Amino acid sequence: MFPDTYQRDEHNRISIGGVPIRQLAEAYGTPLYVLDYATMLHRIHAFQEALNEMTPPGRAFYAGKAFLTTAMAGFLNAHGMGLDVVSGGELYTAIAAGFDMQNIVFHGNVKTAEEIQLALEHNVGYVVVDSLDELHLIDEIAARMSIKAPVLLRLTPGIEAHTHAFIQTGQFDSKFGFSMKDGIHEEAVSVALASSHIDLKGFHAHIGSQIFDEDPFVHNAMRLMEFIQSLWEQRRFWPEVLDIGGGFGVQYTHKDDPPEVPSILARVNQAVQALTPRECEPPVIFIEPGRAIVAEAGVTVYQVNATKTVPGGKNYIAVDGGMGDNIRPALYQAEYMAQVDGKPIDGVALYTLAGRYCESGDILIRDVVLPPVEVGDYVVVFGTGAYNYAMSSNYNRVPKPAVVLVADGHSQLWVKRETYQDLVAQDLPWRDPADLRDFL
Ligand SMILES: Cc1ncc(COP(=O)(O)O)c(C=O)c1O
Repeated sequence: MFPDTYQRDEHNRISIGGVPIRQLAEAYGTPLYVLDYATMLHRIHAFQEALNEMTPPGRAFYAGKAFLTTAMAGFLNAHGMGLDVVSGGELYTAIAAGFDMQNIVFHGNVKTAEEIQLALEHNVGYVVVDSLDELHLIDEIAARMSIKAPVLLRLTPGIEAHTHAFIQTGQFDSKFGFSMKDGIHEEAVSVALASSHIDLKGFHAHIGSQIFDEDPFVHNAMRLMEFIQSLWEQRRFWPEVLDIGGGFGVQYTHKDDPPEVPSILARVNQAVQALTPRECEPPVIFIEPGRAIVAEAGVTVYQVNATKTVPGGKNYIAVDGGMGDNIRPALYQAEYMAQVDGKPIDGVALYTLAGRYCESGDILIRDVVLPPVEVGDYVVVFGTGAYNYAMSSNYNRVPKPAVVLVADGHSQLWVKRETYQDLVAQDLPWRDPADLRDFL
């Protein structure tokens, strides 16, 4: 829940990465996303160490959808992390950062012809195919380019991970991938193997996010292995890659009990080895952790704008951000933990942390016990590194906050705060519709 470098001094002043929160708020303004370098690095190393224990060694592709900027892509590349992108925009961010393209998997259930072309022109490592239509499109584009496109087929293995319905993806009726129930996945294999412009490297299945049990990860790998065993028996096709996706749970509040990654990966490795026929090499296991790398590295600092107690006794704290910078509570009832900078950790009152946006549902935290809160206080919400900035919007025409990295007592701006000028930069002025010369 807390960044690894989180500290409170004797005056209850919070610092992250050795930099006091107050200092960051004063230098960069609020709301402010703060990312801890050490936490991200520790998480990356933990995954890499566990993957190196596998035979053959596994590979990690950070899921850029959790949080991606040019600086983040540069940071990942510098530490040998692969990247999972899901759009032309994420792909372009990686290109702009000079990312090693062979270390990229290109996902998404909708990829346009332009996006596929961009990916193939830049030699991405793997394109993860979601439908037969997309497979035909990739085949066509690769044929035009006279190349062989390296692909993984995304399968839905029918595994229901115990997580929020909106972040489950492995069930048979998911919108993602080829269902393993109705034979469409076998047809996709036939199409891929018959094409001279498709290089079928392997299979992928991501079963959902914020998963706390180890078993679904192992069952997913086993389900995929049973399928590839049948392919070996029937067609003598054996893949190089088995991608089990991301979804490793993290701690947002004290209720969350994340699983041990090394233990999950050791069990997955064991299952894959056991189900590999003697005459074949075990496939390389790919994983795609997103939030497990960045969620707990991030906090958001807000300033209190008003407090009020309403009839019925509810205590509201209104802060200068909300659903525009963190949509997750409104989108899927995500829960967070908060503290007040410079105030004791023990709370005395139950508060509702409300955002500034014009929606009754713009509540960041429904019930949080805090010390007495006053206007001007800085409230720190923990665990906001993933799917916060990435999902941010300009609702109510509120500029997006800055993102700042902290490390060893220093801070570095990763994303500038938007300005009002930025908000109107893509707008065009009003023109009278009566003047048809202005219309296409
Ligand atoms: C295919 C795929 N891989 C990886 C992830 C990352 O999930 P998480 O951030 O929970 O690890 C997702 C999340 O939606 C996904 O759809």
